[in-house]
Parts: sequence; structure tokens; C-alpha cells
Amino acid sequence: MKITVIGTGYVGLVTGTCLAETGNDVLCVDINEEKVNLMKKGKVPIYEPQLEVLFAKNIKSGRLNFTTSIKEGLDHGTIIFLALPTPEDEDGAADLSYVLGVAEDIGKMITDYKVIVGKSTVPVGTADLVRKTISKHTDQEFDVVSNPEFLREGYAVGDFLKPERIIIGTDSERAIQLLKKIYKPYTQMGSRLLIMDEKSSELTKYASNSFLATKITFINEVANFCERVGADVDMVRIGMGADSRIGNRFLFPGIGYGGSCFPKDVKALHKSGKEEHYNFKLLEAVIDVNRSQKVALVPKIMDYFGGALKGKKIAIWGLAFKPETDDIREASSLDMIRDLLKLGADIVSYDPEAMPNVKRKLGNKISFAKDMYTALEDAEALVICTEWSIFKLPDFKRMKKQLKTPVIFDGRNLYDLQEMKSEGFYYSSIGRPV
Ligand code: UGA
Repeated sequence: MKITVIGTGYVGLVTGTCLAETGNDVLCVDINEEKVNLMKKGKVPIYEPQLEVLFAKNIKSGRLNFTTSIKEGLDHGTIIFLALPTPEDEDGAADLSYVLGVAEDIGKMITDYKVIVGKSTVPVGTADLVRKTISKHTDQEFDVVSNPEFLREGYAVGDFLKPERIIIGTDSERAIQLLKKIYKPYTQMGSRLLIMDEKSSELTKYASNSFLATKITFINEVANFCERVGADVDMVRIGMGADSRIGNRFLFPGIGYGGSCFPKDVKALHKSGKEEHYNFKLLEAVIDVNRSQKVALVPKIMDYFGGALKGKKIAIWGLAFKPETDDIREASSLDMIRDLLKLGADIVSYDPEAMPNVKRKLGNKISFAKDMYTALEDAEALVICTEWSIFKLPDFKRMKKQLKTPVIFDGRNLYDLQEMKSEGFYYSSIGRPV
């Protein structure tokens, strides 16, 4: 089938590549010419595991192409995926200007039947707004469908190719039949395809992300309480997770959730509630707790050094908001760095993928080491912000040699308490005894 994907962020790029992989003829549209030229040469503009191989393979096969022209994109596909950004505006609502801007263009250029499929995370009522925006300019028949994506960064290709569920929000039988066809390779392999009205579909995405953010925040609060009563949150987490109604996934405590989705979506759902005169009190608390959780290690660091951080060298392992990505949006590391710099510390960091992005953002406010051990040279403490696999089984002897003092503040609970004791480290983590 001929498919167009408008927007080549990680959702658009993964969607386009994976749909080409299942045999469709895909044209990806992006207004950024530099990016399009790069992709035409076979270069993936983001870091996403597994994507590079599929990308190259499908470009070679001729099934994956790129353009900057919306018109060309619109002429190409019967199904037009919108994978456009919906950033947070100043008051926490989703900024729909990209989505509605493209809807205006579609309205002006559409000449035959199209299914416009919204992949972006958007407030309830957006599909209707897109429909009305297109209709202002044309009498041409078309359908607008809500089809939220549930891809995790770092696992996006796997999540796309083996989704747990595919949600299609529309009452158009014609659109349903077309989408069923392109999703057939996945439903044949057992993925659930759920068809519902468009508003419920739009809300399912916000409710899912907000629920997961709440689950993380809940265990973070339990962790904070564990520290006060001397319990070990890892034990509590395992105990809780053994109940299948609770489940053991997304129950890892740490220095808060970040990324381009959870923070923005929780705020947007809270804001949508307000607009309907409904106060999502729970979400308000989640936003608040997460804000302070991101810097939960700072008072511990202050306590350890008796409040004197000026001129002290602190090493940071992990800058990305989570492993397997170079994305630093809303990363806890940035809040941590902000606070430690304010307190006068010198920061040396290491991250396998995200250093260029942080360099662009912070310039020379902090320094960047060539590897994880070099970062520790003469540092008075190590602070761990992201749970990259390479940090999980380090050479403790080497770490101890490099560090000026064997002190670790771990925001992701990577190490065993007993082991750290026997290796001779001062080890402070989240929700576990020191
Ligand atoms: C999230 C959702 O998991 C996807 O299902 C969704 O499609 C996506 O948002 C989106 O809306 O596009 P993502 O933001 O890539 O995916 O990252 P997650 O793996 O969900 O992690 C989010 C944050 O939660 C990270 O900062 C991570 O460190 C934190 N987290 C996650 C925890 O602190 N504890 C956990 O147990 C799990």
C-alpha cells in the first residue's frame, strides 16, 4: 500500500521504516531539508537501536523515500500518518500548531480520498479539530482517525513490530478496513487490534502514560518513606510486583521520570481536566512529587559533604533521560547538574550517547570524559543518573583507584548493598539503607 508519513521524529521515522519493512511503499515528509538530505543518503538522524539496519535495507529496496514537499506526500499515500510534535506550551497544554498547520495544508491540497491518521499524542477532540480544519478548504471526502503510538524510545522498533495493542479510533468503516490491512502483519502475530470511538482512543494514550507516570511516582514515594523507616524499597517492590494485579514492570524507583512523553502528557491531561472544570488532583501530586524526586540525591550529597560543595569535583554517569537513547529532554541529570552547579561543584560527566546533546545545551558549564572511568579521576563522588548497561557491572577496584574518595550516590539503584559495603564504598541510593 502507498503510505505517507508526515514528520520524521522518532515516531515518524520508526513508523515509516517499519511499514516499509512489511512491504508498503512509504514516503516520509519533513520540512527540515538538511534532515531529509541526510536521510536520503541513508543516515538515521536519531539514535534508536535496530533502526539503522532496517532503514538502510528499506531505502535500498526503494520502499522508503523522503521529501520536503507536503504536496508530493499528499499525492503519494492513501493513508497519511501525522507524526508531528505536540510540545508543551507555556501553561502545560499540548501545542497543536504543527498538527493543525499540516491539516490546513492538507485541506488546500487534497484531491482524492485520504485517511489522515493521527499518531501524535493529542488532547481529546483533536481529531475533530483536524477534520474541521481540513473541511474549511475542501469538499473532498476524507477520514480522520486517532491511532496513538505506544512506542518506547530505545525499544521503538521492537514495540512497533510486536505491539501489545493497536488502537484505532474512528467510526468510518472505510478507514477501518484500510488500517486493518496495513496492521495485518502484526495482528496475524497476535497483537490486539482495538477499535473504538476517536475520543476514547485519544484519551487512552494520555491515560496510559499518566498511569505509568503515577505508578513510577508511587514507588518513588514508597522509596522515600523506606528511607525514613529503614526498609528496603527493592524488597517492597519485589513483594508488591508478585501480585499480578500490580505487576512488577514500571515499578523501579529512582530519580524521577523524564523524556519527551511522560512529563508533557501528565501535564497536558491535567490541563485538559482544568479546561473541563475537572481537577485531576492525583496528577497534580504526580507532577509535584516528580519535580522534587529528580533532585532527591542533592540533599544527600549536601549532607555527606556537610554542605560544602564549592570547588568539589563530582562525576556523573548517565545524562540521557533513560538508557538506549541520546534524548535528554526532561532528563533528571539536567536538574541534578543545575543544582550541583548552583552549589559550586565542578562536574565531569560521561554518557555513551547523550554527551553531544548536553554539550549543545550546556556548553562548557560541565566537562565531558572520554570514558566512564576517566570521568572518575580525582572526583570526590560519583552520581549515577541513568542506568546504562555498561554501568551495571563496573570494575569496582578500578573505580576506587580513580575516585579521590570512594563515594557513590546512585539514582537508579544499580548495585548490591552488601557488595558495595565489602568493596569499601560509601553507597547511597534510593529507598535503601546506606
Ligand atoms: C513512554 C511510554 O512508555 C511509551 O509506551 C509511550 O509510547 C511513549 O512514552 C510515548 O508517549 O511516546 P518513553 O518516554 O520512551 O516511553 O520512556 P519509558 O521507557 O516509558 O520511560 C519514561 C521515564 O520513566 C524514564 O525517565 C525512565 O527512567 C522512567 N522510569 C521508567 C522509571 O523511573 N521507573 C520505571 O520503572 C520505568
